[in-house]
Amino acid sequence: MKVSAIIPAAGSGERFGEEKQFKLLSGRPLFFHTLKLFLQSDYIDEIIVAVPSANVGSTHRDVLSMSAGKPVKVVAGGTRRQDSVKNGIDVSASDSTLVCIHDAARPFVTEDLIQRSISACEFADGAVVGIPSKDTVKFSENGLVKETLDREKIWLAQTPQCFHKNKLLQALYYAETKNLTGTDESALMEAMGFSIKLVEGDSNNFKITTKDDWIRADIVAVRQAQGTVL
Ligand code: C5P
Repeated sequence: MKVSAIIPAAGSGERFGEEKQFKLLSGRPLFFHTLKLFLQSDYIDEIIVAVPSANVGSTHRDVLSMSAGKPVKVVAGGTRRQDSVKNGIDVSASDSTLVCIHDAARPFVTEDLIQRSISACEFADGAVVGIPSKDTVKFSENGLVKETLDREKIWLAQTPQCFHKNKLLQALYYAETKNLTGTDESALMEAMGFSIKLVEGDSNNFKITTKDDWIRADIVAVRQAQGTVL
């Protein structure tokens, strides 16, 4: 089974205030840290990075210097995250059967998470890394609590999210025809009724969304460089 990793890195950084994927973390652009883990992974055959169209050329030059024999393609992302992922799938190897999508903004993914999310696809249409909620979760409307959800059933989704490529393509096509936008690709698969397995993730695999997340990432990166186990 051949696996294509897709790293969406084409966000505009609206909530962060700048394009954080190119901001330096421990001296390297954020997306480099994420890409490096996929380059080193034994479970990934090729990598496709989606970046804003203005950055395709420079990113391509940068990744050439680090690709270490594994094929890496750089494509222009789209307006929505799912469009960036679709652009990535469109250039993936025709013989890859699984796609493993991972946010560029989660630079602390581990080989174990990559491996477990890929393996979980053996018995399901896809698999999503997530963390069981520790907090009680309220469903709200207009600032008022409508309902308290059963905490035992709540998971906070992360990436990697891995799917059988042909099924994800069906889900993306369905989303296009129904005008659906998902905050992740799993949501589009779920809308089609596909089975998605949950794989327990890890709190260090957080997504850098705000400046506070960046400060946390800086600390984790320094501790990793020092070899301090968190
Ligand atoms: O917006 P969200 O937090 O879900 O973004 C997750 C990842 O998707 C980020 O790495 C971001 O760069 C990427 N993204 C993308 N194309 C978009 C929007 C987001 O590749 N149009």
